[in-house]
Amino acid sequence: MSVKKIVILFSGVGTNLQNIISKLHKKKIHSVTYEVVGAICNKKEAQGINICKKHHIPFTLIEHKTYNSREEFDKELVRQIQKFDPDITVLAGFMRILTSVFTKNIKAINLHPSILPLFKGENAIQRSFESDMKIGGVSVHFVSDELDGGNIILQECFQKEESQTLQSFQNKIKQLEFELLPKAIIKILKDK
Ligand code: GRF
Repeated sequence: MSVKKIVILFSGVGTNLQNIISKLHKKKIHSVTYEVVGAICNKKEAQGINICKKHHIPFTLIEHKTYNSREEFDKELVRQIQKFDPDITVLAGFMRILTSVFTKNIKAINLHPSILPLFKGENAIQRSFESDMKIGGVSVHFVSDELDGGNIILQECFQKEESQTLQSFQNKIKQLEFELLPKAIIKILKDK
């Protein structure tokens, strides 16, 4: 039996963290068992920490504020990730720009709430909502040196509705994220 190990990085509420745990953690799908072996967060007030506690996911806090440079923070992040020896590292709402110290050492994927390469970076949902485009969407991509610029693994979009509110647009994004991120993890790990 093959067991694939996942490490999740997050910074906030952790709804995607919860979704991955619910859909994949200790689940066997087509003869592969997935295990969330650890989670790492850079903010001590992040609500997602409680999700780790509830599900007994080994958890590490690395506060970026306490490091003098992005490189020093990334070095510690890499060290802590490697301790878990994961098959893949998943950025699920991890709000940090990563340097090559990270990208050269860690195979990671990121979830982004837009149809990349459009609306890279912060406030993607709002910018995508306010744009002239008739569709919104979600992308999962490999993490590279370029912010939200790595190769795309999966991507899906939906039609904006007439007079749609930002809240309902956000809900639609979240719903797509919940479908797409576990699918992307399975896609990468099933043949690894
Ligand atoms: C998601 O919308 C993701 O696309 C973005 O950050 C958000 C994380 O939300 N990168 P949560 O912490 O998983 O609830």
